Amino acid sequence: MSYKEVQRSKSEKGTRVIAIINQKGGVGKSTTAVNLAAALGELNRKTLIVDFDPQGNTTSGFGIDKEELTQDVYNALLHDVPAEELIEDTICKKVFVIPATIQLAGAEIELVSAMARETRLKDLLEPVIEDFDFVLIDCPPSLGLLTINALAAADSVLIPIQCEYYALEGVTKLLESMRMVKGRINRNLGTFGVLMTMFDSRTSLSRQVVDEVRSYFGNIAFKTVIPRSVKVSEAPSYGMPVLKYSPNNKGSRAYMNLAREVIKRA
Ligand SMILES: Nc1ncnc2c1ncn2[C@@H]1O[C@H](COP(=O)(O)OP(=O)(O)O)[C@@H](O)[C@H]1O
Ligand SMILES: [Mg+2]
Repeated sequence: MSYKEVQRSKSEKGTRVIAIINQKGGVGKSTTAVNLAAALGELNRKTLIVDFDPQGNTTSGFGIDKEELTQDVYNALLHDVPAEELIEDTICKKVFVIPATIQLAGAEIELVSAMARETRLKDLLEPVIEDFDFVLIDCPPSLGLLTINALAAADSVLIPIQCEYYALEGVTKLLESMRMVKGRINRNLGTFGVLMTMFDSRTSLSRQVVDEVRSYFGNIAFKTVIPRSVKVSEAPSYGMPVLKYSPNNKGSRAYMNLAREVIKRA
């Protein structure tokens, strides 16, 4: 399905815009953006991912060649290129990407002196949002202006937490940023869910983290926990979500279960 076809059928239930946020790097944000989107597409939900990290891991995770892109989300954010012109098809049905390249790294500084600097992403997505059931924003590992833009554009956040030492470190700071944005820019911002990633059933540490996260967040934590799996980490080097690379893998099954939970919560 191309984006042109998607445009002909507006989302019926309204669009959920979910920012995938944790200022720590390497906790599974991009992996979750790519694979949750693929799973939502599999379940017939039209999904747009906005790659909002200059590292562009989501963009390359779908096999999009960054060298060949002439423009990316940066051009929309700072130079008024319409979002529609940036939307790329992917190998997954009903899944689309607004790509990012290293160009986006300049935005953090350029935004400082820009007009409406906190709501630029929200404004640029506005004309395309209704074409999708879900919009996922893959955030960079910081709480700078890019992340503030994501929080302003989203209606809720999904926080991935890695089942590792110091799992909850930094979460208070993140919740503080959310409160600040909620108070000043986006009154309706909510917490969509907390997702535990890279769970290793062989370690008691992983189980401890799950207990700790569940007691801190209660029902906000998803029932689905994403297991650590080599296939999940290999898939991006083939430019595809694990759901395409190895559909029966435990990671693929977990992301399908997560998508079902996400649809129920939406
Ligand atoms: N469930 C998983 N099993 C194995 N490796 C994973 C899993 N989730 C993420 N990874 C790997 O961990 C690293 C960090 O994940 P990534 O999604 O890029 O984190 P972030 O976007 O938060 O920086 C990547 O190399 C990724 O392939
Ligand atoms: Mg990332």
